Amino acid sequence: MFQISPELIDRYGVAGPRYTSYPTAPIWHDIDRSTQVKWLETVRSSQKPLSFYIHIPFCRSRCYYCGCNALVSRKQSQSATYVDYLISELEQIGKYQSPGKQIRQLHFGGGTPTFLLDEEFEKILKTIQSTFSFETGAEIAIEIDPRTLRSNQLSFLSQLGFNRLSLGVQDFDRSVQTAINRIQSEAMTFDHLQTARSLGFQGINFDLIYGLPFQTLDSFRQTLASVIKMRPDRLAVYNFGYLPNRMPHQKKIDPQSLPDKQTRLSLIFEAIHQLTEAGYDYIGMDHFALPDDELSVAMRNRTLNRNFMGYTPKTDVDLMGVGMTAISEIGGYFMQNEKRIRTYQTQISETGLAACRGMQLNTDDLMRKWVIRRIICHFYLSFSEFRAEFNTDFKTCFPSEIEQLEKLQQDGLLEVHKDHLTISDTGKIFIRTICMLFDAYINKEDTPKVRYSNTV
Ligand SMILES: C[S@@+](CC[C@H](N)C(=O)[O-])C[C@H]1O[C@@H](n2cnc3c(N)ncnc32)[C@H](O)[C@@H]1O
Ligand code: SF4
Repeated sequence: MFQISPELIDRYGVAGPRYTSYPTAPIWHDIDRSTQVKWLETVRSSQKPLSFYIHIPFCRSRCYYCGCNALVSRKQSQSATYVDYLISELEQIGKYQSPGKQIRQLHFGGGTPTFLLDEEFEKILKTIQSTFSFETGAEIAIEIDPRTLRSNQLSFLSQLGFNRLSLGVQDFDRSVQTAINRIQSEAMTFDHLQTARSLGFQGINFDLIYGLPFQTLDSFRQTLASVIKMRPDRLAVYNFGYLPNRMPHQKKIDPQSLPDKQTRLSLIFEAIHQLTEAGYDYIGMDHFALPDDELSVAMRNRTLNRNFMGYTPKTDVDLMGVGMTAISEIGGYFMQNEKRIRTYQTQISETGLAACRGMQLNTDDLMRKWVIRRIICHFYLSFSEFRAEFNTDFKTCFPSEIEQLEKLQQDGLLEVHKDHLTISDTGKIFIRTICMLFDAYINKEDTPKVRYSNTV
């Protein structure tokens, strides 16, 4: 099985960002409505199709490990109110688009989007279709908590046009499930998977987490074996982000019950070993996919992209985030909506828009963003492609980074060739640390101090 020396783990297994954006969100600053409007105006002249991310924050109960922007609610009426605000925001965003703008991707994330009632989904889709049309082959995706899926809900979503889904699994072991407040039988998960397949859903993903309380190498082996038998098209195997000071509900997890660093590493190595043996491609960081899945194909063709939804095969899009906390990425701008539901709703009712933070990228940011994307998505970076893109030489732009790359090369994390660099299998494990080398903000004095989760 794959092994890495303890020295390398000590040197490179540091805490760091997950690079779903560069510059990372803590670097952004407050913005007002007029700035948001000015930035939104730039979409009108963009030729790119749209990718919509719609955030539905509600969940029926709290999983103790959860690091998502989720709100626990038993009151169904909350979603009706929230959907009205989503619709206002969608209508407002529609005013900034050029006629005939098409959608390449629509993603409902959360929280638990299936909290919404059927008629609420219908309302949202109708609003979108009144302004936009979907490209042929467009992806309409949704994140699902198998425990709260209503009967016939999948079939309804399929009729509405949904064609991709992701099921939250985390771990099948009962003692782990008890400690994380998430009891979910294998049979229930398998049942939903079978239904989704029979309805024609593709790119079906399972989320797993390693580093959870009471996980052992043996227990995780069992979970992996069960998952492999079910054979989802894709798998995300996330490293547990345990930040109890930032997320107080995580304090319900006893730190003594968490696997130590060595065990945590053996869990991810076991996942890489078992999943690749079973025919999955290792896509990067924490993702795996079957070789004929769109994600694997995009990785092989070096067209894979990474954004707030994680790895995605859809590139060359303007990403519009709708709902509380949602993030947009258009041209050289990032924008994030209000994080608190009340403030989000007030902003929408007063101005129709709700971004409160964001950033305009300068040339240096755009270059580093380009480099980090190549490293984290393709494990490959071509110096001549960099020159073609920015009309300047990679080695001239990044002299101190090149020096540091030498050290990483000596440690076997990557290879620097005349016209390109490639990341080794060991380097893939420390990919966040390699990206940090190109992050101009991470060690700057005036950068806000953020506690990141461990990279491995
Ligand atoms: C929005 S949830 C998925 C949909 C649904 N709410 C569910 O839980 O089934 C997104 C995924 O993020 C992952 N996740 C949540 N909190 C995490 C944490 N603290 N560390 C690592 N992964 C986490 C879980 O794997 C979870 O399935
Ligand atoms: S993991 Fe999913 S279901 Fe659990 S609290 Fe977080 S968002 Fe909600």
